[in-house]
This record gives sequence, C-alpha cells and structure tokens, in this order.
Amino acid sequence: MTDLGLVASSCGGLDTRFTDELAKPAVARGWRLAVTLTPTAWGWLKATGGLGELEAATDLPVRSTSRLPGEPRPHPDPKVFLFAPASANSVAKLALGIADNQALTLLGDVLGAPGITIVVAYQIQDTRVHHPAWQRHLDTLAGAGVRLHRLDPRRPWSEPLDLLPSPA
Ligand SMILES: Cc1cc2nc3c(=O)[nH]c(=O)nc-3n(C[C@H](O)[C@H](O)[C@H](O)COP(=O)(O)O)c2cc1C
Repeated sequence: MTDLGLVASSCGGLDTRFTDELAKPAVARGWRLAVTLTPTAWGWLKATGGLGELEAATDLPVRSTSRLPGEPRPHPDPKVFLFAPASANSVAKLALGIADNQALTLLGDVLGAPGITIVVAYQIQDTRVHHPAWQRHLDTLAGAGVRLHRLDPRRPWSEPLDLLPSPA
C-alpha cells in the first residue's frame, strides 16, 4: 500500500464526515493513512468520541503533537499529502510558513519540495474570500504546486481524493 499523509483541521463536519467520507474511502482506494490532526481538530474528535473509529482505519498512530527529541518518528515519509478539511486559519498559516503545530510542521516541511504532491481541500465561509490576504495565500500555495479544491458542504468530502495520483 502507498502512504498518504492525511492532515485535517477543525472545520464543521470534521466529527461527522472526516472518517466516513475521507479516511475510509482513501483506504478503500489503496492508501495507507498517516493521519495528523491540528490540536483543535484532535480535541474535537476526542470530545465527540470519533478518534477510535479513525484510529481503526490505519495501522499508524493518529498524530497531533510533535514527538519528543530522541523519540522515534511515528510516521513514514509519504510522497503524497491530502490536507482536508483545511480551515482558513491553517491555509493562511501554511502559506506563510507558520509551523506552530505538528500538522503545519509536516506540510511546511514538504511544501514545494520536488517529488511531493499536496492537495489542499479547504472549507471556508463565503465571506472569507473578501479577506485581503486570502487570495494571496491561495496563489502562494498554487505557485508551490499545491492542487487546491474548495469543499462544498453540500457535496461529499471524498471528491478531492480524485485529485491524488493513483496509489502505486
Ligand atoms: C463548529 C465550528 C465549525 C467551524 N467550521 C469551520 C470551517 O468550516 N472552516 C474554517 O475555516 N473554520 C471553521 N471554524 C473555525 C476554526 O475551527 C478555527 O478558526 C480554528 O482556530 C482553526 O484551527 P486549526 O486550523 O488549527 O484547526 C469552525 C469553528 C467551529 C466552532
């Protein structure tokens, strides 16, 4: 199986849709999941009891915190990443190179690197497109080769899986 770095942040629907519409369909397509959540996303899944079902979809630990110095790295190094759902907050931080949590550290370390594929599927309020920096953030990511997709809350979250290459 091919490793997929699946990263998620705290968007509405995370607790009800992420595992069923993204994680499990990705596994069904042949991906082995290395899941990293933002601290807020992890807190939501922990609070709503959804962590166990997500953990059952992969043989790797679901991460949200960094390892301690000297601890082994718990995940392999995927060549393909899907950041979905991506919040406006995390998209902005990724574009700016901010790495104040493990999810953004992971993505920031590979953004723009040769041989790496990153799909960012963001879910935002309609009003967010008017923020003066928003389009610049998207342009920055697109300029680094990121494939961008806006999630429509009325449509399945599995759609951005079609933007990934076929698992080897
Ligand atoms: C119920 C709820 C739903 C939210 N949905 C979204 C969303 O769909 N998109 C978004 O950009 N932010 C959403 N937010 C706001 C983010 O959770 C908030 O900006 C948070 O700081 C993002 O942190 P993270 O990017 O580290 O996960 C939502 C907040 C709440 C409480």
